[in-house]
Formats: sequence, C-alpha cells, structure tokens
Amino acid sequence: MSIIKINNNSIMSSSNFTYGVATASFQIEGGIDHRLPCIWDTFCATEGKVVDSSDGSIACDHFTKWQEDIELIDSLNVDAYRFSVSWPRVLHQDGSVNNEGMQFYINILDKLNEKGIKPFVTLYHWDLPQHLEDNGGWLNRDTAYKFQEYTEKVVQAFGNRVYSYATFNEPFCSAYLGYEIGIHAPGKVGKEYGKKAAHHILLAHGLGMQVLAKLSPNTKNGIVLNFTPGYPLTDSPEDQAATEIANQNFNYWYAKPIFDGNYPELFDKLPAEHKPQILDGDMDIIFQPIDFLGINFYTRARYKHHPTEWFEEVNTENVERTDIGWEVYPQAFTDLLVDLNTRYKLPPIYITENGAAIDDVIENNQINDTRRIDYYNRHLNAVDDAINQGVNVVGYFAWSLMDNFEWAEGYLKRFGIVYVDYKTQIRTIKASGLAYKSFISERS
Ligand code: NOJ
Repeated sequence: MSIIKINNNSIMSSSNFTYGVATASFQIEGGIDHRLPCIWDTFCATEGKVVDSSDGSIACDHFTKWQEDIELIDSLNVDAYRFSVSWPRVLHQDGSVNNEGMQFYINILDKLNEKGIKPFVTLYHWDLPQHLEDNGGWLNRDTAYKFQEYTEKVVQAFGNRVYSYATFNEPFCSAYLGYEIGIHAPGKVGKEYGKKAAHHILLAHGLGMQVLAKLSPNTKNGIVLNFTPGYPLTDSPEDQAATEIANQNFNYWYAKPIFDGNYPELFDKLPAEHKPQILDGDMDIIFQPIDFLGINFYTRARYKHHPTEWFEEVNTENVERTDIGWEVYPQAFTDLLVDLNTRYKLPPIYITENGAAIDDVIENNQINDTRRIDYYNRHLNAVDDAINQGVNVVGYFAWSLMDNFEWAEGYLKRFGIVYVDYKTQIRTIKASGLAYKSFISERS
C-alpha cells in the first residue's frame, strides 16, 4: 500500500508543524436560498461556462451537513481546517449583517474550537456578491472599500474564535481568469481589465489588513497566493527571457507589491491602457506587514519565445499529469519556495493548498487513489527539501477535504481526500485520506 513518509528528523514529522485540510464556501456549501446571489451563480447560469453545466446550488450540501463534516475533519486527526466565508451569505445588500448567515459560521467556529481544530478563515474565495459586480466588481475601486467594511463586520462578529485570517485566496485567479481571459466569473475578457482588477484586489487586501491589524491583532493575518512557476522550454536566451516575463505576469505580479511595495518591471512595458490606475498611497496600503504567506501550489508551466507575444506556454508531451491535465513536477515546489525565500523577506509560510485531481472510482466502498497518495508523498517531501534549504514553512493543508465544485470544471474533477457521492451526499474517506491521517497521527 502507498504511504506518506517524511524523514523522522524533519520538523514536518513533529507535532510543531500544522497539518490541515481546506475547502471554500461556494465549492461546498449549497444553501443558496439563504444568501444573496454571487458572481459564480450568474456565471454558472450562463451557457457554456461550466463544463458539465452544473452550479453551486447544492454542491456538497455542507450548509446542512456541516456538523457531520466537522466530525469527518476531526476523524482525520488534522490540527487545522481552512475554509472561506461567503460574503453574500453574511451581509445584506445594504451592508448590514445577515444574522442567519453570520451565525452559520459562528457555529462552525465554535464546533471547531470545541474539537481543538484551529480555524483558518479565508475572507474572499471568489464569491463576490452579484450586486457589487453590477457596479463594476473588481474594476471598480470602490469594491476594495466594500471589502474593508465586510472584513470589519466579519471580524467583529467572529470575536476571538479564529486562529488565522487570509484576506484573499489567489488574487491571480480572480483578476486574470475572471477579468482578463474570462474563464472564471464574472467572465470579462480584455487585457485592459486584468491588471486593473488585480490592483483593486491588492488594494482591498491592504485595506483588509489594516482592519485585521486593528481589530484582530492576535490572529495570524495574511494572504494566500498561488504560484505556477514557469520554466523555459530550452536554455536559449530567448526562451529564458520569455519565461522571466511570464513569471512576472503570473506570479510576481501578486507577490512583489506585497513584499517590495511595487510591481515587477513588466509594469513599464505595459501599454498605458493595460496599466492599472495607481493613486497616491495605494502601494503603501498594499505593502504592509503580514503575519504569514499562504502558498497554493499544484504544478509548473513551460514557456518559449514567441515572435509577436511576450511568451508562449507550451504543453510538453510525455510528462506525468493529473487528471485535470496539470504536470506533476514536485521539484518546482522546492524551487519556488527557495526562490521566494531568496527574493523577498518572507514571514512564516503555510502551504494553504496542494493536491491532485484524480478520476476516482468507488468500488466496494473503497477508493484506492494511490496516485493521489504518491502526489502527496512527493510534494510533502518537496516542501521538506525546501525547509532543509532554510525556508520557514510551518504548516500544510491538503486540497481538498472532500470532492467539490471545481469551478469551470464543475463536478467532473475530484480533488478530495474524501469521496463525495453527489446523489446521496455520502462521504467516504479515500485511501489518500487514510494515508494522510496515519501520517499525521504518527508524528512525534
Ligand atoms: C485553487 C483554488 O483556491 C481552489 O478553489 C481550487 O479548487 C483548487 N485550486 C484546484 O483547482
């Protein structure tokens, strides 16, 4: 049987290292009649946007099954649970608190605390209230201030129940996928939109951090960024230069403002109409201390020179891939962590997401997802390699607790370490869940 194993002397084999599982509101909750519509409801209702034409109306029905789900989390022996708050569930359109929605999360927090599971709360995991999108969404600077107000309301309501707050999950996805290439909600397309949305999201992060620093100084407050490190297809100077631009565009664009207070050099190369409007003081708001950096890592990308574009992404053949088509390349995880650690002065790092989509089959109530176990084993060891090279990683969350709504892929891609039968809503722990559990349980 496949197992997860890390060198006994590693900090990752000790109980000082935090292990958890992660989810996000829209992907698991359902319960849409109890909240305002969000941009993903609208996007799902638009023909051709989600592969299986599904939506989030039921998802994993976590809205009603949350207690059972927390028992499940507890049964995995994890130290922490990362989940997100649905903005349209906790606030009414006029900005006042929706008590029923807020109480939903307070109950979850209370139960997690009762069980000794640390709550890691993400404030924004892509479900922007639709009425804000109707006013321009992340293209409207005002949305950043709306986010600040929302943060304030949540923090006031949650009191001392939270261990950690992340302002945003993967600004890149919201900005680039949502406003530049349109494959995520709200589905806007245009190079003039992506960086503008990104700037307002980063600004919102900074404004949110100010609230957290003031109202919640005892929680660990930070942001979750995703990285898909780019590698040149060949060693040619042209491919290397193309890759450098791709990395600035997709990765450093979101990290550099936070750690250096400015955008990568690529900013100067952008045509004026693609540049965000930066007002006096914006970069200072974005550039402020964070208690932790959350890193989501899944795969790498390869780039080559293109005669007219800045770079071209290449899908190399004969490489190992997960069932969502992403290359399995754990070395990139180590390289990334070491690179970021060299480039910036980083706070402690949590790996807030890592995992694999596999076409699981359930047979006799068992899911033998050995490829997923192998993925976890290799990637956890890649993190350990980075730690051995001096990177301060203090925790790791598996994505995901359970199979769920995988955005534009609908329910067709399964990332869970727990299998969800969407017809019966029965949850079954996969072999990977059992392997993760025994690995965590055997720590010294
Ligand atoms: C990133 C996102 O945060 C999460 O919502 C998504 O399901 C996983 N990666 C897998 O794509």
